[in-house]
Amino acid sequence: MLVLGIESSCDETGVALIEGRSSGVPNLLAHALHSQVEMHQAYGGVVPELASRDHIRRVLPLTHQVLNQSGRVLADVDVVAYTRGPGLAGALLVGAGVACALGAALGKPVLGVHHLEGHLLSPFLSADPPAFPFVALLVSGGHTQLMRVDGVGLYALLGESIDDAAGEAFDKSAKLMGLGYPGGPALSSLARQGNAVAYKLPRPLLHSGDLDFSFAGLKTAVMVQAKKLVAAHATDGQTSGLETFTSLPIGIRADLAASTEAAIVEVLVKKSLAALERTGLRSLVVAGGVGANRVLRAQLDAACATRSVQVFYPELDLCTDNGAMIALAAAMRLLSGKQKASTVYAFDVKPRWPLDQIEPDVAAIS
Ligand code: KG4
Ligand code: ZN
Repeated sequence: MLVLGIESSCDETGVALIEGRSSGVPNLLAHALHSQVEMHQAYGGVVPELASRDHIRRVLPLTHQVLNQSGRVLADVDVVAYTRGPGLAGALLVGAGVACALGAALGKPVLGVHHLEGHLLSPFLSADPPAFPFVALLVSGGHTQLMRVDGVGLYALLGESIDDAAGEAFDKSAKLMGLGYPGGPALSSLARQGNAVAYKLPRPLLHSGDLDFSFAGLKTAVMVQAKKLVAAHATDGQTSGLETFTSLPIGIRADLAASTEAAIVEVLVKKSLAALERTGLRSLVVAGGVGANRVLRAQLDAACATRSVQVFYPELDLCTDNGAMIALAAAMRLLSGKQKASTVYAFDVKPRWPLDQIEPDVAAIS
């Protein structure tokens, strides 16, 4: 079964072709991605209307690229999958519209996929895939969730962020440090040169006794610390008094970046360990853009090794948004019998769509 997957929920257009097999994990034949980061950088964040227009420009060329790379033609495709939500409404509509138009033109069924289910299942495309059940730490730009995963479609929410997501904490802290958008990778690379214990920053909800997160206060603490540093530097007598954070010495900036990263990572690691303890499970899957963070990976690896817990990550290039995870989630849903693809080409999108409410919804459209 050949599944074409289209991802367009935010600022990346991703297309992929996956071969679903009745036994074993689906096989990724090709995937292609266009990131809009450069386009949005000038605005300091994603501009939804620009995002939608760019998805329109990119999606068909990327589809041709994927077909060429895998030596297949459109007529070989058995199912066209797309991201139905959550995400930006206009951006989602582009992927959904193109997928349903392709399906109708080819006479092939279509399937709307939950973006976070794609992230959550993405480690199944790596050389050493996990087995159910496991705890999943989903850390993306918009979501921070701990889930208990018992199988395809069997997702129980254990805890989530009550305000900002971990990715947002990275991005907003990076923005106020003048690191541009998206700030996570930039903050992380600046942090490499810094001292992670230089500044004392809060670890929100670390001892709350539940598995929820809160990162909004941390971002404010980073801002207060950055202002203090600028003020201290401006009054040390040797400067112009017009300093901004970006004009501070690299060592100071790197120390604040490293301290911020350490605070976010410590909360993510401790809560993941608490989720493993609470569920008694011995496998942890880490997915979503922040899952690419090297300090998070190193600390989770070290903590889990001492507890005989195995940690699974997607391949680095599949941590952030991509079409492969959408084709994969569709293939796994279809092959597990969880869902049938539909030949009804009317579509809707779900900008807000909690992952633990996925079942009634997908059932209703299949
Ligand atoms: O999963 P994703 O690509 O998009 C969403 O579904 O939101 O995640 C994007 C998020 C952004 O907040 C980005 O800054 C963050 O992942 N990110 C990182 C790293 N790479 C991406 N955060 C910290 N360290 C990284 N290496
Ligand atoms: Zn994502």
